[in-house]
Amino acid sequence: MKKILGTLSAVAFAVGASASFAACDAGERVVKLSHVTGGTTHPKVVASNNLAERVNKEMNGKLCVEVYPNSTLFGDSKELEALLLGDVQLLAPSLSKFGSYTKKYGVFDLPFIFKDMDAAMRFTQSETGKGLLNSMEDKGLVGLGYWMSGMKYFSANKPLMTPSDANGLKFRVQNSDVAKAMIAAMGASPQPMAFAEVYGALQTGVVDGQENTWSNIYTKKFFEVQDSTTQTSHQLLAYLFMTSKEFLDSLDAGTRKQFLSIADDVTQKANLSVKEKEEANRQNILKAGGTIRDLTPAQRKQWVDAMKPVWKQFEKEIGADVIAAAAAS
Ligand code: LMR
Repeated sequence: MKKILGTLSAVAFAVGASASFAACDAGERVVKLSHVTGGTTHPKVVASNNLAERVNKEMNGKLCVEVYPNSTLFGDSKELEALLLGDVQLLAPSLSKFGSYTKKYGVFDLPFIFKDMDAAMRFTQSETGKGLLNSMEDKGLVGLGYWMSGMKYFSANKPLMTPSDANGLKFRVQNSDVAKAMIAAMGASPQPMAFAEVYGALQTGVVDGQENTWSNIYTKKFFEVQDSTTQTSHQLLAYLFMTSKEFLDSLDAGTRKQFLSIADDVTQKANLSVKEKEEANRQNILKAGGTIRDLTPAQRKQWVDAMKPVWKQFEKEIGADVIAAAAAS
């Protein structure tokens, strides 16, 4: 196989890759994994690199995974198309980014549907949650597992303690109809935008705020260009670790079985450490001088009350049964 951090480390550094970047030997079947996050402490970065290390060691000569972080190969708008075209074989996009392929994943975006990460994990492990992995089979897209990331928090260029503080502000959102409706419910304006553009947009005032996990707020340094982040925990961020049917079908049965078994193991291990990673990145923000604000129970209730009507708006397209199963978790 490859010299991890060997000859390609200079290239990896030049393109902003921050961790292991395998150099595959000539003749090896290269499997490209593209994603948009960065740094070394981000759960998706760690899971992707673990997958590459495991496949490259255990499947030596059969498959060789190369990881392209930080939107260096494909950004938000192009990656799913690239997967269907066979230009990349593995992705882990946020579940908020599938609106053109399935409406079902809107359930993961519903505000305050999951009390915490444990509730979200229970849902993904339930029959309904597992069934959703196959929502896009008819489009040739295959879900291999959920990579959890964290709860999301609002940041802005002013303190946000109640939804009315957000009135009239512009918030960057992922390209999700639920997220757009949620921001509108706060009396604010949603601005869908690729992840790679968020720091610049916050810095130049194109948008006033954003919502994300501690890991993204830290590794992308959003806290540097915001007044503060408020511990709203209003929404989940999780990823669909995925491939294409075309890629899976191209593997012989033994290779496919071994690859799927490693993928499953990496997924389970990644999810076990995700809460720890989020807490570490929360601490990293504080150490780096970022401000984090807490809500009183009364303030939290105001956020819940403002956003809860959004559920009803999406009940038809997501399915009342799916929403009920998520809420019950
Ligand atoms: C975002 O666009 O805010 C996130 O989906 C980025 C990511 O993949 O964590």
